[in-house]
Amino acid sequence: MTNNKKAFEEACKFIAGGVNSPVRAFKAVGQDPLFINSGKGAFIKDIEGRSYIDFVQSWGPLLFGHCDKEIARATKKALKKGASFGAPTLLETELARLVLAEFPHLDKLRFVSSGTEATMSAIRLARGFTKREKIIKFEGCYHGHSDSLLVSAGSGAATFNTPSSLGVLQSTAQNTLVAKYNDITSVKELFNAHNDIACVIIEPVAGNMGLVPAKAEFLAQLAKICKENNAVLIFDEVMSGFRASLQGSFGINGIKADIVTFGKVIGGGLPAAAFGARAEIMDLLSPLGGVYQAGTLSGNPLAMAAGIASIKKAKKDKNLYLKLGKMAFRLSSGLKEAAATANVPLQVCSVGSMFGFFFNEKEVLNYQDAIKSDTKAFAKFHKAMLARGVYLACSQFESGFICAKMDDKLIDKVINAAFESFKEL
Ligand SMILES: Cc1ncc(COP(=O)(O)O)c(C=O)c1O
Repeated sequence: MTNNKKAFEEACKFIAGGVNSPVRAFKAVGQDPLFINSGKGAFIKDIEGRSYIDFVQSWGPLLFGHCDKEIARATKKALKKGASFGAPTLLETELARLVLAEFPHLDKLRFVSSGTEATMSAIRLARGFTKREKIIKFEGCYHGHSDSLLVSAGSGAATFNTPSSLGVLQSTAQNTLVAKYNDITSVKELFNAHNDIACVIIEPVAGNMGLVPAKAEFLAQLAKICKENNAVLIFDEVMSGFRASLQGSFGINGIKADIVTFGKVIGGGLPAAAFGARAEIMDLLSPLGGVYQAGTLSGNPLAMAAGIASIKKAKKDKNLYLKLGKMAFRLSSGLKEAAATANVPLQVCSVGSMFGFFFNEKEVLNYQDAIKSDTKAFAKFHKAMLARGVYLACSQFESGFICAKMDDKLIDKVINAAFESFKEL
């Protein structure tokens, strides 16, 4: 099979929608997805043999690009010893120690296999800890696809304009209250109206309605309100952890959450995620406490080995995040300049190695601002960039990712492609 179109037709016969995650389907940009054959560093190659600069990086995990030598070596070494045991290995403790060292306010972790499991388990734990039922999430924030969090979710849900999902019970959704991102009044109103709020979950650097960072002042007030109301604050750093900075959002503004969820980078491209909190909360988990949580492949040795190599590498290079941040800034500023020359209004943003842009005349501070963006212009731009060998996320409501294998020369090439692409709109 050497043709993307045919491969997609074939996949559609056997896989629902031809893809195993809806965001991959390229629907928002009116195209068929590319089938990827291989990746190396900053590049991916599709089955037609075309090469692309990859700004998706598996939706975030690949901080060091494709086939990083050290991560691959560590994973192979683990595989030789056995793919899975369903019993503790030393690797789990090592990765937990490496992650926790960056978050002094967290005592313990528990590993799971996906970000969805991490946030779902964090919510259960918060409910178990507070013995309350309601949760607050923010419009446009995506925390995976567990029922109670599939309400006003961003990402794929925003792309398809279905803010929640069929199959999520009304009785479940009723317990999920939705506040407005970067708007503390909307949070205060919910706390005033309800006295049984177990937790507030937020992406402190939202990457699922496009890239929209929370203001530090807003997060600080959020932490204060949670404390005053004895509600648990959950920072979902599945995307921003070890991406926005080595210490995620915490490394940017020092604001501490009670529970933090991780994913993506901590698995180095293999399926691993985690949630962590102070001991008082974590010790409520089974087998110590009454909050049940489990997983056959949780802490899988291959994923742990890839994660250890990835996090060790991230810690070793003291300039890594500075370099990545400079490249993300260079790219987003270049995109803005290129758009301006073609009279295209564009809002750009970068946080650490994450970047985003909206075809929008006004600054984007929340989901309502984001959805006012011009999705048709984005689709045309996406197609034009793809034709020039630049693989961007196939929706405007996603974040882009810089990897360590990129450099200024490559970024400038992409900016030049953007100059040409904007002219075509
Ligand atoms: C912030 C955030 N939380 C949770 C998730 C869910 O993670 P997973 O896709 O591994 O289930 C994602 C996925 O993109 C995410 O970005």
